Amino acid sequence: MAADDLKRAAAEASLKYVKDGMVLGLGTGSTARYVLEGLARRVADEGLLVSGVPTSLATAEAAKFLRIPLTSLEEHPVLDLAIDGADEVDPRLDLIKGMGGALFREKIVAGAARKFIVVVDGSKLVPRLGTKSPVPVEVHQFGWRATQAQLAALGARVELRKRGGEVFHTDNDNHILDARFGPIRSPAKLAAALDAIPGVVGHGLFLQMTDLVLAASEEGVRTLRPRRRT
Ligand code: A5P
Repeated sequence: MAADDLKRAAAEASLKYVKDGMVLGLGTGSTARYVLEGLARRVADEGLLVSGVPTSLATAEAAKFLRIPLTSLEEHPVLDLAIDGADEVDPRLDLIKGMGGALFREKIVAGAARKFIVVVDGSKLVPRLGTKSPVPVEVHQFGWRATQAQLAALGARVELRKRGGEVFHTDNDNHILDARFGPIRSPAKLAAALDAIPGVVGHGLFLQMTDLVLAASEEGVRTLRPRRRT
């Protein structure tokens, strides 16, 4: 099965958690796009009544195009359910997110939701965060080189994200520094260290936020729940 079919299968599996009247967090990325398409189908075919808070300008555009009603965190500070993709998922169901650049809003939206469901194809499951992906770190433009130096001092190889040869700007007009740490021993310690750097606006470590992962492989869609932490 192609990666796209697996993404679609995971996304479709998440739709059964969406109930009439819910206010949803709408994720960003190619897997989240399939969630939007499935939602749009249910809105059009079944008259499902939902509204969604988009995690990016791109998702807002897509939702408008697909005729999914939008709302905001100002109107609904608590969401029923957020559904989003991820770049890596570890056995504790902690995540790296943000290769699409929307991590700052994605984390706020996931944090505002009573339930957070992550949809991935099986290639995103890793034994340790950082195995394949860098940790995307959104940084303020002011003094970004100083912020980069502080990230590098934590042991990362750090690159300013570019797209098409141009410096990438987030929806919040910040830069992204992709910090490659390799497999991360303690995501919690690293998250605390990143949070302590003044120029860091947000980072892609999503820890203890996930309620459910739907991971699609050739064998079908597995439902993963976090083990209780002691
Ligand atoms: C967007 O900023 C990201 O967090 C995405 O959710 C993540 O990169 C997964 O994207 P894909 O579903 O496109 O792999």
